[in-house]
Amino acid sequence: MTSATAPDLDRLVATLDLEAKVRLLTGATMFTLSPEPRIGLAELRLSDGPTGVRGLKFSGGRVVSLFPSATVLASAWDEGVMEEVGRLLAEEAMAQQVHVVLGPTINLHRSLLGGRLFEAFSEDPLLSGRLAAAYVRGMQEQGVAACLKHLVANESETERTTVDSVVDEATLRELYLLPFEIAVEESHPWSIMAAYNDVNGVPATEQAHVMQDVLRGEWSWDGLVMSDWSATKSAAPAAAGGLDLVMPGPMGPWGQALVDAVRSGELAEGVVDEHVRRLLLLAERVGALGEPRSWPGDLPAPDSDERREQLTRLAAQGMTVLTNDGVLPLERGTTVALVGRHALETIDMGGGSAQVNPPYQVSVAEGLTALLGDGVTVTDGVEVRAKPVPARPGYVTDPETGEPGVHLSLLGADGRVLEDRHGVVARTAVGLDDEVDDVIVRVRFRARVQTGGRVELGVLGVGDWRVEAPGHLAEPALRVSGAGHAEEILAPPAHTSQVELPDGAVVEATVTLLGGGVRPGETEMGFALGLLARPAPRDDVQQVLAEAAEAAAAADVAVVVVGLTEEEETEAVDKATLRLPGEQDALVRAVAAAARRTVVVVNAGTPVLMPWLDEVDAVLVAGLPGQEGGHAVAAALLGEQEPAGRLVTTIPVADGAAPAWSVTPVDGKLVYEEGTAIGYRGHDAGLAPPPAFWLGHGLGYSTWDWTGARLVPETGGAGDSGGTGDSGGTGGSGSPGSTAGTAGVSVEVTVHNTGSRSSREVVQLYWRPAASGQPVRLMGWAAATVAAGEQATVRVSLDPRLRRRWDVDQDRWDLLPLAGELLLARGLGDVRARLELPG
Ligand code: BGC
Repeated sequence: MTSATAPDLDRLVATLDLEAKVRLLTGATMFTLSPEPRIGLAELRLSDGPTGVRGLKFSGGRVVSLFPSATVLASAWDEGVMEEVGRLLAEEAMAQQVHVVLGPTINLHRSLLGGRLFEAFSEDPLLSGRLAAAYVRGMQEQGVAACLKHLVANESETERTTVDSVVDEATLRELYLLPFEIAVEESHPWSIMAAYNDVNGVPATEQAHVMQDVLRGEWSWDGLVMSDWSATKSAAPAAAGGLDLVMPGPMGPWGQALVDAVRSGELAEGVVDEHVRRLLLLAERVGALGEPRSWPGDLPAPDSDERREQLTRLAAQGMTVLTNDGVLPLERGTTVALVGRHALETIDMGGGSAQVNPPYQVSVAEGLTALLGDGVTVTDGVEVRAKPVPARPGYVTDPETGEPGVHLSLLGADGRVLEDRHGVVARTAVGLDDEVDDVIVRVRFRARVQTGGRVELGVLGVGDWRVEAPGHLAEPALRVSGAGHAEEILAPPAHTSQVELPDGAVVEATVTLLGGGVRPGETEMGFALGLLARPAPRDDVQQVLAEAAEAAAAADVAVVVVGLTEEEETEAVDKATLRLPGEQDALVRAVAAAARRTVVVVNAGTPVLMPWLDEVDAVLVAGLPGQEGGHAVAAALLGEQEPAGRLVTTIPVADGAAPAWSVTPVDGKLVYEEGTAIGYRGHDAGLAPPPAFWLGHGLGYSTWDWTGARLVPETGGAGDSGGTGDSGGTGGSGSPGSTAGTAGVSVEVTVHNTGSRSSREVVQLYWRPAASGQPVRLMGWAAATVAAGEQATVRVSLDPRLRRRWDVDQDRWDLLPLAGELLLARGLGDVRARLELPG
């Protein structure tokens, strides 16, 4: 592709002077790049990613579809599903004329404390890489660029912009670079994002070893590398290291400094030309160079029936049944006591840059009531958050339009109205189109509290605030201080007070930011702010537990929904524990003690501890299920859709009982000392106690016999996806330059559906190499959807890329002898067949 287009691009580059070229290499705004009409370059538009296309505003922007989070999508273990996701996200992008989607995230689930794991697929590199490739294919087939992120060794958030991830070369190659390598090889992504952190003492944005030697050299990749937002730490070293584009803009460390570096001879102008050429290649690929592309005009709206069906299905099929004594699926006619704050306020997405502004979010209470009607009672549970949150849609209404939400007015110093609109959420980012200095910005929310009582009121965001609830509260000129630029946006500080308010009270909040104005460069992201208004937290835990138990005792089945919130699952912050926050464990126990049968739904994107596991009858992991979350949970509970998920991450039995744990750098360094033995690999190697549930575990709604497991010689060819099975498996596609001629082994097994429903089984193939020090690893998988009583023969190939070992002395790949044991399993806790390799 490059060679055909390169001469033209080179000619275009040659028409620009140094300043013009350098100007293109830093963003024009938060999410756009500078156009250059002289060469036919249009404005390129970028958007987060990865599971919803938020658009050009950081928050409070356009209403778009909210997809299930990456861990839910990945739990389907299905490349077909991931291709569909890529295609749908491309549609979401095209609907807003966005050229580049900042996803997928393919960092690995190293320590489960990582705050951003919900955005990434798995702890396994093969699963992550194959799913990422499918996502990229689905997206780029529509002419929208994907952006793999974050290159590389960016598995946690603590000290995220300065931490030095110390990773030996073998671990880097065999584990953390592998998903990138697989995605590059199988889907040719058009862009990649360099991470915030350093890797072995060198900033990821200056990593010549990774970007030049490996990516462009060994992998022959010709795409564009952009920095993570504000991650670039230098001018010439980053440009020479292979970084093409600094984001965001217009400020940044390149600009004049890069021009000076070229003029002083520190950097060859040819390096700048290379960056511009790659930028033009990206533009050409997405239709932003030359003839303007046409954008389809008839794409499904975020609240269309089409999206409802797609998002419900995608969420439900990724939900995972961990345990089930037969209570699931629930029968129609069953009376259900639905309990828990997450039942009422279901968490559908994680926090940070992955957030979008969805048209609605269906709670589990709404979803289950829609299916079971009067058969459901809903009881609130214990508090689940430590910090106040913005008013939820529905709790407040816009007094001017009467719609759920708030009214936002933004005024300039001269009284000019800059923005005046309805907001669906009580949190927004103020972003101005023009750069303005020394302006006083005043933002006013008005909201009507629908249900009175003891109410918590306050503000969210840095600045001088005035909070007024006429007749009830007047707190003039509060100063709410923040911790730093990014954190002020991602985790803004709050101030609250509690007041008694009657139904329908009108609340007005005003913020005045004095002096200094909005600094250029911040104008697009602006600052996050919000109105806090919610029923005051319930302190009397015993009373809450008693109410829950009473409701549970009165129904056939109790369904308790527990989980995490954006306080734990967010960008910029890591977790301290896998314990459920608040008194949720006590809530489960109280309900289980009172109920006839108890089902726990875990509404969290990543593993939580379940100390009550033996006291309940079934556990369904719902993940962060997106805007149709409540409908999807209801469909899964009732079996209208099979929750056919398999875990993408191993769940440990206790805090610390995992092969990699601490995410706190010591003297700025985070040492990846467990090597390639993260997750199930490390548990299997004895680096941690046996887990509660292994990667790959998931019961679905049927039972299976596996018979006739055998090795079969491969007849050649690539990409076998599993015999008579459906999509979702991995084949043994060759890996150029590394393993050619070494494939050749597949395994077949017959899976017999012995249950009473059609179901999807996922056959996973693991290899425990004979070579010492080599952990067990997933070598491939294949799936089959089989009717009750029927059977299918499934074939899985060993992916040759997992046979390689990086020889540190020779600085090259080596092949491990194909000796040891092959395991056919549904997670290593449920091995169905073992095959000895002759060695
Ligand atoms: C995140 C990226 C994201 C970018 C733009 C950064 O803070 O790490 O994943 O794409 O912001 O919002």
